[in-house]
Amino acid sequence: MTTNKKYLEKLQTEATNSINGLASEEEIESWRIDYLGRKGKISNFFQTFNKLNAEEKNELGSLANKLKNTLEHLFKEKSKSIKTNNNQNSNFFDYSLPSVSLGSGSIHPTNQMMEEICSAFSKLGFNIFEGPEIESEAYAFDKLNIPTDHPARDIWDTIYVNDVKEIHSLVLRPHTSPMQIRIMENNKPPIRVVIPGKCYRYEATDNTHEWHFHQIEGLVIDKNINFANMKSTLFEFARIIFGEDTKARFRCDFFPFVEPGAEMSVNFKQNEWLELMGAGMVHPKVLTNVGIDPNEYSGFAFGLGIERAAMIKYGIENIRDFYANDYNFLKQFK
Ligand code: FA5
Repeated sequence: MTTNKKYLEKLQTEATNSINGLASEEEIESWRIDYLGRKGKISNFFQTFNKLNAEEKNELGSLANKLKNTLEHLFKEKSKSIKTNNNQNSNFFDYSLPSVSLGSGSIHPTNQMMEEICSAFSKLGFNIFEGPEIESEAYAFDKLNIPTDHPARDIWDTIYVNDVKEIHSLVLRPHTSPMQIRIMENNKPPIRVVIPGKCYRYEATDNTHEWHFHQIEGLVIDKNINFANMKSTLFEFARIIFGEDTKARFRCDFFPFVEPGAEMSVNFKQNEWLELMGAGMVHPKVLTNVGIDPNEYSGFAFGLGIERAAMIKYGIENIRDFYANDYNFLKQFK
């Protein structure tokens, strides 16, 4: 009897000590099997009862059951604490680790090209101006020698902002040329400026045409400015932007505000040409409209497409890629 009681006391001490050091769910389960399992130490103890008399059975049975309850309680508590620990460990956040990169944005290829072109003209001695995106018809057309009902207005498929015919309508500027007028109205020659800006046209899109795009207008007014000055300036610009070996060509074109007029194309993808800009000598009527004497001053103007310049420089075949918000396209220009 005493031996049995001592055995139970020893079992309790041993079980309580051993459970303290356990840390995993596997360890605690093996502890449970060892003490409380069907073939565990408590169960084995009960199997020795057939050798005992009734009184011993009662006393030892009650002691063994008490121990069994104690060990089951210990097991539950320990399992709970191991599970809680494991959960806390999986949520553990190590603030000392280096952070995950969120990636960084970059300047849009159109704006990168615009900055590059402005800086090229800046090196050639041009000042940089900006102008309004909403223009009056007077500046977008009339003062540029394109009177109402002149068929040339059809060249610029215009988006009108309002529809009040009694006063001059407002338009989303279809080109940056109105800024030629604004600059000449407010500055005396010599003038040498470029004006970057966004333009809008009500036209169907294709690989080389967007309904909104960017231009840079250029204007030079001084004494004795001639067509050769214009060609050399624009060739030099093309060399700065596209490289020394750039092939560029001029062909006749018509714009009512220049005479003679031309378009300049640049070699694109080895054996194709892409029109980059319209250009020409400022029309005497335009000079007269702004109070500059065409007998004393002459000048040239040009308007070049910024997306087209980027297309030529980077071999981009579809202008619509610029505004499709496709990260794979945009990240190439980081
Ligand atoms: C003009 O807009 C004239 N204002 C240019 C000019 C200025 C001529 C000064 C003479 C003197 P044009 O419509 O051709 O011309 O456009 C000029 C350039 O803008 C084109 O060569 C092209 O590079 C670009 N461009 C024109 N339309 C689009 C479009 N829909 N999408 C993308 N780029 C365009």
